[in-house]
Amino acid sequence: MTSSSRAQVGIVGAGPAGLLLSHLLALRGIDSIVVENRSRAYCEARQRAGLLEAGTVELLRAVGLGGRMDAEGLEHGGIYLQFAGERHHLDFRDLTGGRWVTIYAQTEIVKDLIEARLAAGARVEFEVSDTGVTDLDADQPVLGFTDAAGTRHEVTCDAIAGCDGFHGICRDFLPPGLIRVAERGYPYSWLGILATVPPSTDELIYSRHEDGFALHTMRTPQVSRLYLQVPADEDLARWPDDRIWDELRRRLSVPGWELKDGPITEKAISPMRSFVASPMRYRRLFLAGDAAHIVPPTGAKGLNLAIADVTLLAAALTSLLREASPELADAYSDSCLRRVWRATHFSWWMTSMLHTDPHPDPFGTELQLSQLRYVVGSRAAATTLAENYTGYFPLRW
Ligand code: FAD
Ligand code: DHB
Repeated sequence: MTSSSRAQVGIVGAGPAGLLLSHLLALRGIDSIVVENRSRAYCEARQRAGLLEAGTVELLRAVGLGGRMDAEGLEHGGIYLQFAGERHHLDFRDLTGGRWVTIYAQTEIVKDLIEARLAAGARVEFEVSDTGVTDLDADQPVLGFTDAAGTRHEVTCDAIAGCDGFHGICRDFLPPGLIRVAERGYPYSWLGILATVPPSTDELIYSRHEDGFALHTMRTPQVSRLYLQVPADEDLARWPDDRIWDELRRRLSVPGWELKDGPITEKAISPMRSFVASPMRYRRLFLAGDAAHIVPPTGAKGLNLAIADVTLLAAALTSLLREASPELADAYSDSCLRRVWRATHFSWWMTSMLHTDPHPDPFGTELQLSQLRYVVGSRAAATTLAENYTGYFPLRW
């Protein structure tokens, strides 16, 4: 038996993009259903990004989601860039006229969003299967899924948002030949750990070392997060805890500074890729976040881009559905892609400057070191990094 229902907007994926879109639409009086193939516990525990641009923080505050973020988030006014055995500080507030970033984990944003959606009585279906989109060439596309109890549902919608991440299904429902993909692979991955130990630094350390890149970031005053460049397709079994700490200590070392270690509670390897699919819309199916684009994590842009996309999408869907006005919906893909390509360039640039090539040559190495010396030596170059890192495009709600 199939159960039929209606929602103004069908949203696939309960990641940050899908959940925030549902929240923003509700603020404008538009109802939505969110369908997610994982469990709530899985979505809330999935370790991913942690760094929010100033504009992302201001948006979350403006839409009533700032409570715990303001109490628990860690505001940072700069970063350290380390290379050739020396650590240099970049002061973002000074370079950008007061901009900053905040450490607040994606897991916490997702928890805040799920709680807010459920408290508002929203329809969020976890553990669904066989999600699909039909009738895309009509004005009322249909979102189909099977719920956790095994009942098949068909939800007639005015629009559908594919917020289902890079491995989602929505991108493939756009007509063949419409989507143009631009992508770049990288010959390395990141091994990320969470450790129960206070951070050994007040601000993030991005370190280029001849044995590979390392990043020291954090989650709370008691929990550190650290990343190591490892070969692409590396086997996690080759990285017992002692080896990870030894390697982090080597790549992050500077005289007079010590890395504190502690129990590792989470360990994973993530591949790195740049990928942009355009356009991000076909008729009444819209893509947002990782479903349309991914960046290597070095610039900390993935989550911020997902939030920016749905901020534009909520405004576009509001005009389309409430005022029958298609201008913002028609402009959606191009508006997102301007920001996406800036972040794609910045993420590629940070990645290329800081990682060591598996087959290094003196020319490439000297170019990297020259660029790093330029960034820490020239106010103009430092400002370029700072204004991209803290968020170049304003985010309006
Ligand atoms: P997602 O968070 O991927 O959410 C998509 C949701 O859709 C998921 O919950 C998924 O289960 C669901 N879904 C998929 N298919 C279906 C389906 N068929 N039916 C229903 N639901 C479906 N960014 C940074 O800035 N810094 C980092 O350190 C960083 N680390 C990362 C580590 C990993 C392993 C990954 C994968 C990403 C990382 N990112 C990082 C990127 C950042 O986390 C993403 O950009 C962000 O999660 C994008 O949010 P989203 O909502 O678009 O997609
Ligand atoms: C974090 C991850 C990043 O990729 C980055 O550039 C900065 C911070 C993080 O997980 O905190």
